[in-house]
Amino acid sequence: MNYENILTEINEGIGTITINRPKQLNALNRQTIEELHDAFDQFDKQDTVRVIIVTGSGDKAFVAGADIKEFMNFDAEQGRGLAREGQALLFDFVQNLDTPVIAAVNGFALGGGLELALASHIRIASDNAKVGLPEVSLGVIPGYGGTQRLAQIIGKGRAMEMILTAEMKDATTALKYGMVTEVVPLENLMETAVKKAKKLMRNSPMAQSLAIKSVNASYYQEGFKEEVNLFGQAFTTQDFKEGTQAFVERRKPNFTGK
Ligand code: CAA
Repeated sequence: MNYENILTEINEGIGTITINRPKQLNALNRQTIEELHDAFDQFDKQDTVRVIIVTGSGDKAFVAGADIKEFMNFDAEQGRGLAREGQALLFDFVQNLDTPVIAAVNGFALGGGLELALASHIRIASDNAKVGLPEVSLGVIPGYGGTQRLAQIIGKGRAMEMILTAEMKDATTALKYGMVTEVVPLENLMETAVKKAKKLMRNSPMAQSLAIKSVNASYYQEGFKEEVNLFGQAFTTQDFKEGTQAFVERRKPNFTGK
Protein backbone atom coordinates (compact mmCIF):
# COMPACT_ATOMS: atom_id res chain seq x y z
CA MET A 1 0.00 0.00 0.00
CA ASN A 2 1.28 3.49 -0.85
CA TYR A 3 0.85 5.89 2.03
CA GLU A 4 -0.20 9.53 1.60
CA ASN A 5 -0.89 10.50 5.19
CA ILE A 6 1.69 8.56 7.20
CA LEU A 7 5.44 7.96 7.12
CA THR A 8 7.06 4.70 8.17
CA GLU A 9 10.60 3.58 8.85
CA ILE A 10 12.38 0.65 10.45
CA ASN A 11 15.62 1.19 12.33
CA GLU A 12 17.38 -1.33 14.59
CA GLY A 13 14.24 -3.34 15.23
CA ILE A 14 12.03 -0.31 15.91
CA GLY A 15 9.22 0.44 13.47
CA THR A 16 8.20 4.10 13.59
CA ILE A 17 4.87 5.34 12.23
CA THR A 18 4.44 9.11 11.91
CA ILE A 19 0.99 10.49 11.19
CA ASN A 20 1.65 13.19 8.64
CA ARG A 21 -1.23 15.63 8.03
CA PRO A 22 0.27 18.60 9.88
CA LYS A 23 -2.06 21.18 8.26
CA GLN A 24 -5.03 19.34 9.82
CA LEU A 25 -3.09 18.73 13.04
CA ASN A 26 -2.84 15.07 11.99
CA ALA A 27 -6.61 14.54 12.29
CA LEU A 28 -7.66 10.97 11.53
CA ASN A 29 -9.75 10.72 8.38
CA ARG A 30 -10.84 7.38 6.93
CA GLN A 31 -7.85 7.10 4.62
CA THR A 32 -5.37 7.75 7.43
CA ILE A 33 -7.04 5.08 9.57
CA GLU A 34 -6.74 2.58 6.70
CA GLU A 35 -3.09 3.47 6.16
CA LEU A 36 -2.39 3.16 9.87
CA HIS A 37 -4.08 -0.24 9.95
CA ASP A 38 -1.90 -1.43 7.10
CA ALA A 39 1.32 -0.07 8.63
CA PHE A 40 0.65 -1.55 12.08
CA ASP A 41 -0.29 -4.86 10.45
CA GLN A 42 2.86 -4.98 8.28
CA PHE A 43 5.13 -4.12 11.20
CA ASP A 44 3.42 -6.64 13.47
CA LYS A 45 3.98 -9.42 10.93
CA GLN A 46 7.70 -8.70 10.55
CA ASP A 47 9.94 -10.53 13.03
CA THR A 48 12.55 -7.82 12.53
CA VAL A 49 10.22 -5.24 14.10
CA ARG A 50 10.31 -5.73 17.86
CA VAL A 51 8.63 -2.50 19.01
CA ILE A 52 6.43 0.05 17.23
CA ILE A 53 6.51 3.78 18.01
CA VAL A 54 3.59 5.94 16.83
CA THR A 55 3.86 9.73 16.79
CA GLY A 56 2.61 12.81 14.94
CA SER A 57 4.52 15.03 12.53
CA GLY A 58 5.45 18.57 13.52
CA ASP A 59 5.79 19.99 17.00
CA LYS A 60 2.18 20.94 17.63
CA ALA A 61 0.03 17.83 17.49
CA PHE A 62 0.14 14.09 18.00
CA VAL A 63 -3.42 13.86 16.60
CA ALA A 64 -6.20 16.47 17.08
CA GLY A 65 -8.94 13.86 16.79
CA ALA A 66 -11.15 12.20 14.25
CA ASP A 67 -11.60 14.40 11.18
CA ILE A 68 -14.64 16.51 12.13
CA LYS A 69 -15.13 17.84 8.59
CA GLU A 70 -15.36 14.28 7.25
CA PHE A 71 -18.13 13.10 9.59
CA MET A 72 -20.14 16.25 10.32
CA ASN A 73 -22.83 15.41 7.73
CA PHE A 74 -23.10 11.69 8.58
CA ASP A 75 -26.39 10.15 9.69
CA ALA A 76 -26.74 7.77 12.65
CA GLU A 77 -25.90 4.62 10.69
CA GLN A 78 -22.83 6.23 9.15
CA GLY A 79 -21.83 7.47 12.62
CA ARG A 80 -22.11 3.99 14.07
CA GLY A 81 -20.17 2.61 11.08
CA LEU A 82 -17.41 5.19 11.60
CA ALA A 83 -16.96 4.17 15.24
CA ARG A 84 -17.32 0.40 14.64
CA GLU A 85 -14.92 0.29 11.69
CA GLY A 86 -12.44 2.69 13.27
CA GLN A 87 -12.32 0.60 16.42
CA ALA A 88 -11.84 -2.62 14.45
CA LEU A 89 -9.24 -1.24 12.03
CA LEU A 90 -7.16 0.81 14.42
CA PHE A 91 -8.00 1.14 18.10
CA ASP A 92 -8.85 -2.46 19.09
CA PHE A 93 -6.35 -3.61 16.49
CA VAL A 94 -3.48 -1.69 18.12
CA GLN A 95 -4.52 -2.72 21.63
CA ASN A 96 -4.40 -6.38 20.63
CA LEU A 97 -1.19 -6.41 18.56
CA ASP A 98 1.51 -8.91 19.53
CA THR A 99 4.17 -6.21 19.13
CA PRO A 100 4.37 -3.60 21.91
CA VAL A 101 3.32 -0.11 20.78
CA ILE A 102 4.68 3.08 22.36
CA ALA A 103 2.75 6.31 21.72
CA ALA A 104 5.13 9.30 21.67
CA VAL A 105 2.60 12.07 22.32
CA ASN A 106 4.15 15.22 20.84
CA GLY A 107 1.48 17.90 21.39
CA PHE A 108 -2.32 17.86 21.16
CA ALA A 109 -3.81 14.39 21.68
CA LEU A 110 -7.52 15.09 21.50
CA GLY A 111 -10.53 12.88 20.83
CA GLY A 112 -9.44 10.10 18.48
CA GLY A 113 -5.83 11.19 19.08
CA LEU A 114 -5.98 10.52 22.79
CA GLU A 115 -7.94 7.35 21.99
CA LEU A 116 -5.08 6.13 19.80
CA ALA A 117 -2.60 6.85 22.59
CA LEU A 118 -4.85 5.05 25.10
CA ALA A 119 -5.03 2.00 22.82
CA SER A 120 -1.21 1.88 22.68
CA HIS A 121 0.58 -0.19 25.33
CA ILE A 122 2.86 2.57 26.67
CA ARG A 123 2.48 6.37 26.52
CA ILE A 124 5.25 8.97 26.79
CA ALA A 125 4.46 12.68 26.39
CA SER A 126 6.35 15.84 25.54
CA ASP A 127 6.07 18.74 27.97
CA ASN A 128 3.86 20.69 25.52
CA ALA A 129 1.32 17.84 25.24
CA LYS A 130 -2.36 18.62 25.80
CA VAL A 131 -4.73 15.71 26.18
CA GLY A 132 -8.50 15.56 26.26
CA LEU A 133 -11.74 14.09 24.99
CA PRO A 134 -13.53 17.25 23.74
CA GLU A 135 -16.36 15.39 21.93
CA VAL A 136 -19.24 16.64 24.10
CA SER A 137 -18.27 20.18 23.10
CA LEU A 138 -19.16 19.06 19.55
CA GLY A 139 -22.45 17.43 20.56
CA VAL A 140 -21.09 13.87 20.29
CA ILE A 141 -19.25 11.39 22.51
CA PRO A 142 -15.88 9.68 22.14
CA GLY A 143 -16.39 6.87 19.63
CA TYR A 144 -13.02 5.18 19.34
CA GLY A 145 -13.04 3.47 22.72
CA GLY A 146 -12.34 6.58 24.80
CA THR A 147 -15.26 6.22 27.21
CA GLN A 148 -13.95 2.76 28.07
CA ARG A 149 -10.16 3.03 27.93
CA LEU A 150 -9.84 6.40 29.67
CA ALA A 151 -11.82 5.09 32.65
CA GLN A 152 -9.79 1.86 32.64
CA ILE A 153 -6.50 3.75 32.69
CA ILE A 154 -7.15 6.75 34.98
CA GLY A 155 -10.26 5.60 36.87
CA LYS A 156 -13.92 6.41 36.43
CA GLY A 157 -13.98 9.62 38.49
CA ARG A 158 -11.25 11.46 36.62
CA ALA A 159 -12.44 10.05 33.27
CA MET A 160 -15.97 11.25 33.88
CA GLU A 161 -14.68 14.72 34.82
CA MET A 162 -12.54 14.92 31.67
CA ILE A 163 -15.26 13.65 29.34
CA LEU A 164 -18.08 15.82 30.76
CA THR A 165 -16.04 19.03 30.95
CA ALA A 166 -14.37 18.37 27.56
CA GLU A 167 -11.34 20.12 29.08
CA MET A 168 -7.77 19.57 28.01
CA LYS A 169 -5.18 18.56 30.60
CA ASP A 170 -1.51 19.46 30.40
CA ALA A 171 1.32 16.92 30.41
CA THR A 172 1.98 17.27 34.15
CA THR A 173 -1.64 16.44 34.93
CA ALA A 174 -1.60 13.54 32.46
CA LEU A 175 1.43 12.19 34.34
CA LYS A 176 -0.24 12.69 37.72
CA TYR A 177 -3.33 10.84 36.46
CA GLY A 178 -1.19 7.91 35.23
CA MET A 179 -2.30 8.51 31.67
CA VAL A 180 1.34 8.71 30.58
CA THR A 181 4.34 7.21 32.34
CA GLU A 182 6.91 9.88 31.44
CA VAL A 183 7.02 13.54 30.40
CA VAL A 184 10.13 14.91 28.70
CA PRO A 185 11.05 18.05 26.74
CA LEU A 186 9.75 17.86 23.17
CA GLU A 187 13.28 17.72 21.73
CA ASN A 188 13.99 14.58 23.80
CA LEU A 189 10.72 12.77 23.11
CA MET A 190 11.79 10.47 20.30
CA GLU A 191 15.12 9.54 21.92
CA THR A 192 13.21 8.72 25.12
CA ALA A 193 10.76 6.55 23.18
CA VAL A 194 13.66 4.79 21.41
CA LYS A 195 15.39 4.19 24.75
CA LYS A 196 12.18 2.67 26.12
CA ALA A 197 11.84 0.55 22.96
CA LYS A 198 15.39 -0.76 23.39
CA LYS A 199 14.58 -1.70 26.99
CA LEU A 200 11.54 -3.65 25.77
CA MET A 201 13.69 -5.40 23.16
CA ARG A 202 15.77 -7.10 25.86
CA ASN A 203 12.76 -9.22 26.83
CA SER A 204 11.07 -12.17 25.17
CA PRO A 205 8.74 -11.06 22.34
CA MET A 206 6.76 -14.28 22.79
CA ALA A 207 6.22 -13.58 26.50
CA GLN A 208 5.41 -9.93 25.78
CA SER A 209 2.68 -10.88 23.31
CA LEU A 210 1.21 -13.31 25.85
CA ALA A 211 1.40 -10.60 28.54
CA ILE A 212 -0.44 -8.11 26.29
CA LYS A 213 -3.20 -10.69 25.71
CA SER A 214 -3.38 -11.49 29.39
CA VAL A 215 -3.55 -7.85 30.58
CA ASN A 216 -6.19 -7.09 27.91
CA ALA A 217 -8.28 -10.11 28.92
CA SER A 218 -9.81 -8.19 31.85
CA TYR A 219 -10.99 -5.40 29.61
CA TYR A 220 -13.29 -6.96 27.02
CA GLN A 221 -16.66 -5.49 27.83
CA GLU A 222 -20.04 -4.68 26.41
CA GLY A 223 -19.13 -1.03 26.96
CA PHE A 224 -17.33 -0.74 23.62
CA LYS A 225 -20.48 -1.83 21.74
CA GLU A 226 -22.64 0.53 23.75
CA GLU A 227 -20.23 3.37 22.93
CA VAL A 228 -20.71 2.68 19.19
CA ASN A 229 -24.51 2.79 19.59
CA LEU A 230 -24.55 5.97 21.63
CA PHE A 231 -22.00 7.62 19.33
CA GLY A 232 -24.38 6.90 16.40
CA GLN A 233 -27.36 8.18 18.38
CA ALA A 234 -25.66 11.57 18.79
CA PHE A 235 -25.60 11.95 14.99
CA THR A 236 -29.43 12.23 14.93
CA THR A 237 -29.43 15.34 17.15
CA GLN A 238 -29.52 19.09 16.55
CA ASP A 239 -26.73 19.55 19.10
CA PHE A 240 -24.38 17.43 16.97
CA LYS A 241 -25.16 19.51 13.87
CA GLU A 242 -24.73 22.73 15.84
CA GLY A 243 -21.52 21.60 17.58
CA THR A 244 -19.70 20.47 14.44
CA GLN A 245 -20.94 23.47 12.42
CA ALA A 246 -19.72 25.82 15.16
CA PHE A 247 -16.27 24.17 15.04
CA VAL A 248 -16.00 24.77 11.30
CA GLU A 249 -17.27 28.35 11.64
CA ARG A 250 -14.86 28.98 14.56
CA ARG A 251 -17.63 30.13 16.92
CA LYS A 252 -19.08 28.96 20.22
CA PRO A 253 -21.94 26.45 19.81
CA ASN A 254 -25.43 27.28 21.00
CA PHE A 255 -26.67 23.96 22.38
CA THR A 256 -30.37 23.37 23.04
CA GLY A 257 -30.13 19.79 24.34
CA LYS A 258 -32.15 18.46 21.39
N1 CAA B 1 -10.80 17.51 12.41
C1 CAA B 1 -10.66 18.21 11.28
N2 CAA B 1 -9.86 19.29 11.17
C2 CAA B 1 -9.17 19.66 12.28
C3 CAA B 1 -9.29 18.98 13.50
C4 CAA B 1 -10.13 17.83 13.54
N3 CAA B 1 -10.29 17.09 14.63
N4 CAA B 1 -8.51 19.59 14.42
C5 CAA B 1 -7.92 20.63 13.78
N5 CAA B 1 -8.33 20.67 12.49
C6 CAA B 1 -7.95 21.64 11.46
C7 CAA B 1 -8.63 22.99 11.68
O1 CAA B 1 -9.95 22.98 11.18
C8 CAA B 1 -7.69 23.90 10.93
O2 CAA B 1 -7.95 23.76 9.55
P1 CAA B 1 -8.08 25.08 8.59
O3 CAA B 1 -6.72 25.73 8.71
O4 CAA B 1 -8.36 24.49 7.26
O5 CAA B 1 -9.17 25.91 9.17
C9 CAA B 1 -6.31 23.29 11.18
O6 CAA B 1 -6.55 21.92 11.56
C10 CAA B 1 -5.54 23.94 12.31
O7 CAA B 1 -6.37 23.95 13.47
P2 CAA B 1 -6.73 25.31 14.28
O8 CAA B 1 -6.64 26.50 13.40
O9 CAA B 1 -8.03 25.06 14.99
O10 CAA B 1 -5.52 25.32 15.32
P3 CAA B 1 -5.51 26.01 16.75
O11 CAA B 1 -4.09 26.03 17.19
O12 CAA B 1 -6.27 27.31 16.74
O13 CAA B 1 -6.34 25.00 17.69
C11 CAA B 1 -6.98 22.84 18.51
C12 CAA B 1 -5.85 23.70 17.92
C13 CAA B 1 -7.34 23.34 19.90
C14 CAA B 1 -6.44 21.41 18.58
C15 CAA B 1 -8.23 22.90 17.59
O14 CAA B 1 -7.83 22.63 16.26
C16 CAA B 1 -9.32 21.93 17.95
O15 CAA B 1 -10.04 22.16 18.90
N6 CAA B 1 -9.46 20.84 17.16
C17 CAA B 1 -10.52 19.87 17.33
C18 CAA B 1 -10.29 18.98 18.52
C19 CAA B 1 -11.44 18.03 18.68
O16 CAA B 1 -12.56 18.43 18.94
N7 CAA B 1 -11.17 16.72 18.54
C20 CAA B 1 -12.18 15.69 18.68
C21 CAA B 1 -12.66 15.29 17.32
S1 CAA B 1 -14.09 14.27 17.40
C22 CAA B 1 -13.52 12.71 17.64
O17 CAA B 1 -12.35 12.46 17.78
C23 CAA B 1 -14.63 11.68 17.65
C24 CAA B 1 -14.26 10.29 17.99
O18 CAA B 1 -13.91 9.95 19.12
C25 CAA B 1 -14.51 9.26 16.98
